[in-house]
Amino acid sequence: MGATRALKANSGTNRSDAILILNFGGQYTHLIGRNVRENSVYSEIVPNDTSARRIKRIVSKTNVKGIILSGGPDSVYQKGAPGLDQKVLDLGIPVLGLCYGHQLIAKMANGVVKPAEKKEFGGTKATIDRGVAVLKGLEPRQDVWMSHGDTVYSMPPEYEVLAHTDNTPVAAFRHKDRPIYGLQWHPEVMHTKNGVQMLRNFLFDQCGCKPDWKMEDFAPRALEAIKHRIRGGSAVVALSGGVDSSVATALVAKAIGGEKMAVVYVDTGLMRKGETEQVRETFSALGTDLRIIDAEERFVKALKGVVNPEKKRKIIGRLFIRIFEEQAALIKADYLVQGTIYPDTIESKGGIKTHHNIALPRKLKFRGIVEPLKDLYKDEVRIVGRSLGLPDSIVDRQPFPGPGLAVRIKGEVTKRKLEMVREADWIVTSEIEKAGLAKGLWQYFATLTDTRSVGVRGDSRSYKRIAGVNAYVSRDAMTAEFAELPWDVLRAISTRITNEVPGIGRPLYNITDKPPGTIEWE
Ligand code: XMP
Repeated sequence: MGATRALKANSGTNRSDAILILNFGGQYTHLIGRNVRENSVYSEIVPNDTSARRIKRIVSKTNVKGIILSGGPDSVYQKGAPGLDQKVLDLGIPVLGLCYGHQLIAKMANGVVKPAEKKEFGGTKATIDRGVAVLKGLEPRQDVWMSHGDTVYSMPPEYEVLAHTDNTPVAAFRHKDRPIYGLQWHPEVMHTKNGVQMLRNFLFDQCGCKPDWKMEDFAPRALEAIKHRIRGGSAVVALSGGVDSSVATALVAKAIGGEKMAVVYVDTGLMRKGETEQVRETFSALGTDLRIIDAEERFVKALKGVVNPEKKRKIIGRLFIRIFEEQAALIKADYLVQGTIYPDTIESKGGIKTHHNIALPRKLKFRGIVEPLKDLYKDEVRIVGRSLGLPDSIVDRQPFPGPGLAVRIKGEVTKRKLEMVREADWIVTSEIEKAGLAKGLWQYFATLTDTRSVGVRGDSRSYKRIAGVNAYVSRDAMTAEFAELPWDVLRAISTRITNEVPGIGRPLYNITDKPPGTIEWE
């Protein structure tokens, strides 16, 4: 969302305090925004090169109380590395630099920033040398989440070092007289145990923000925006049955009315067990024009012989959109509505994975694409869904990737493999739900590998596939930890899969966190 548009919206009747986040291209930039919003303070992301003059103009219209410099993938000493207008630090508005932002402030102050002798990625312990300012109220040892190759070795005398780690001498600092702070770690990531406290210290103690913004304020704004955008036109909604597209469907239905839209659900044949039936049941009850398109044959044919994950995603994405276009042509819709959310965008842009709903072909036959949730995270989407009155059965659904089971099968996708992984997935899901563990988990599912393993059945040799059993704890899918499932649940899953799914002989439990893994296997 462009800074100008968003900040204008905030400058009307809504005079909530705001935090500006200067984006240096970090993976977690939107997560900072989300964390700020979660603390009931409005936040907006603007480019890193937003000038001090421009910021002053924004401040004259809105209640900007603080500035956060995000992390980023560059090295501050590299030629062409993203910089900051020096005058931003002279505005008198509190500034907090995180990771790259921390290193950039250090470099601009003539501190020593160099490649780290030992790079830190993941969880580490920080020692708090002075529990003041953003570190107020914290115990001397803190679990923090790092992801950096450069390190601040020293700061000039006008700065005070507030924390260090074994490999980072200046892991946190503050200016002695001015409201300028830096943290080498990422407080916005849930694995920094007291990250929220650190951000709250900044928002409320250092910036003096009032906590009066709430996520429920999102839907009314979004409805206005959708009405304005579609203006009397019609829309076709791409419904997958998942949380995001369901909430997008509900929003558009409320904004333009059911008679102005068609809801299209493409049964790609890559769906989970019972999924299409559930969609039919839930959405026919809403009284919309629901069209269920059986396209399994087309998808399986298009995927024949394809093993490269990115290729699979692209093929599925393109076919998906083509089918939507066919439908839209039948119902003459002007706009395509999609349930894209922020992590889809970041992962596609970062080149990690092409999420199908981002990889749109250039020549769309729609007047435009409406993605009302594109700046939100899944848990925020759930709050919006609840505020629209959607039932828990929809709002609490597990996330499911657009390319469906195709990215849970290693190698070529075939009907036979789809059956195997679907059945194994059903077993994983039912056993976890039966054990009452679903609420605490982000996702739980089965995957199928292309590798076979020898076993023994009765008195005979078997040679069957290895499957993956996965369960993750996460808040937003940007980072995730494998869940420590009880042994008896794992045993029940294993026994059932080996007994009930012909073709799978060896289920393995996946113990890979994200990073370094991703949640889906492809
Ligand atoms: P990864 O596997 O990238 O997934 O760690 C992060 C979250 O996104 C879901 N996911 C997708 N969702 N289209 C989607 O709509 C996709 O192509 C896609 N790939 C992954 C995944 O299930 C997890 O919740």
